Amino acid sequence: MHRRDLLRLGAGAAGWSMLAPRGPGDGGVGQDADRMAWWRDARFGMFIHFGLYSTLGGEWKGAPAGSHEWIRNNAKIPHEEYIPLVEGFDPRGFDADAWVAAAKDAGQKYLVVTTKHHEGFSLFDSAVTGYDVMSTPFRRDIMRELADACRRHGIRIGWYYSIMDWYHPDYLPRRDWEQRDATAASFARYVAFMQAQLRELLTNYGDISILWFDGQWERTWNHALGVSLHDYCRAIAPDVVINNRVDGGGDPDSAGGRGPVGDFRTPEQEVPATGLSGLDWESCITMNKNWGWSKFDHDWKSVSELIGLLVETASKGGNLLLNVGPMGDGRFPPQSIDGLRGIGHWMRVNGAAIYGTRATPFADAPVRATLRGTRLNLFIDPWRPGPLLLPGMTAAPHRAYLLADPGAGPLETRATPGGVELRLPERAPGPIWPVVVMEFDEALPG
Ligand code: GLC
Repeated sequence: MHRRDLLRLGAGAAGWSMLAPRGPGDGGVGQDADRMAWWRDARFGMFIHFGLYSTLGGEWKGAPAGSHEWIRNNAKIPHEEYIPLVEGFDPRGFDADAWVAAAKDAGQKYLVVTTKHHEGFSLFDSAVTGYDVMSTPFRRDIMRELADACRRHGIRIGWYYSIMDWYHPDYLPRRDWEQRDATAASFARYVAFMQAQLRELLTNYGDISILWFDGQWERTWNHALGVSLHDYCRAIAPDVVINNRVDGGGDPDSAGGRGPVGDFRTPEQEVPATGLSGLDWESCITMNKNWGWSKFDHDWKSVSELIGLLVETASKGGNLLLNVGPMGDGRFPPQSIDGLRGIGHWMRVNGAAIYGTRATPFADAPVRATLRGTRLNLFIDPWRPGPLLLPGMTAAPHRAYLLADPGAGPLETRATPGGVELRLPERAPGPIWPVVVMEFDEALPG
């Protein structure tokens, strides 16, 4: 039988919406398969938002002040009042090993951490600014400790870096509510400053796997500057994976006709409805509502919701970058720790259905699915005992079993004119997103 015949991709396959075929690196960004190979297999990483704002937890002068890492802008905090936060930055509870172990136990393969967010404060020892962690009572290079811990635990490390900078005297534009004089500012000097910091970040901390840019949307940044910063970083670290937010957009012709640069797309707080065909992408999503620590945000996602997001991104061919906003004392919020533990518990049993997998031609109902070679993984939540029809599938697998309990014996399957029917046992093998594996004789088309 021809491979394509195993799954008939015809429209109208009741309930199974079709995904456009996705070949990693087959167009758009993400051309370099070698550089992207580990990233595509990893599927799951941790995002960390930590900075001076974490010490405020969303509160300014005794009242809730908008949110998190945007607090300086939201509460219109004057420059002179924000800078002294440096003197109170002393996260004694910070333990790089605890952060990295939490990521590793959750099954995350990489970590991306804010080295400098929009507030402009550097959490590393930078020779080109005094507004860094070495000027605080804490005086420890947080990025060095994290990079070292990641290496000890076998996890890759990536740097988040904000192009927008509310502190640097040469960054333009100023906030529109600010009085700070900008007559002597030179954006070219700011670009040189960023280059110097990125050189520090790419050369002082061993191998860095990812550069995750952000804050590229203001009028001073454009496609040509994005291309040039991208190429600058790539020249220092040829294998570093760079996100698409390095590019300011605009007219691609302005940089010699090169299209948008960056290896992967970055949908934020959402999983694209049918994935992003032909592109590499990573959804970044928070565990509550905020990126940075907010003491007023109690809207935590349940373990089942978090795993659902991971299943959904993997089934559509993307990665999930799940955020933690450590508290001002440097510890993870207990709710984040609980969520990560729950995911880890599930991943230890079901990780084989996530890592190294690709999108299936099916986007969602009646179940979600991932592909890896000859294996089709079906995620079945809620569990429904009895026959489950998989429309659009024309050949039965040679074997089907519960990933959590392969010894329980094969599950019955049969091809019917309406699709393959799978018979599910009375009891689910686990409470959350149980997985059924179907094995075929040949690799399935992704
Ligand atoms: C937005 C926000 C920023 C956050 C980022 C994460 O760009 O400005 O605060 O770090 O999203 O994707």
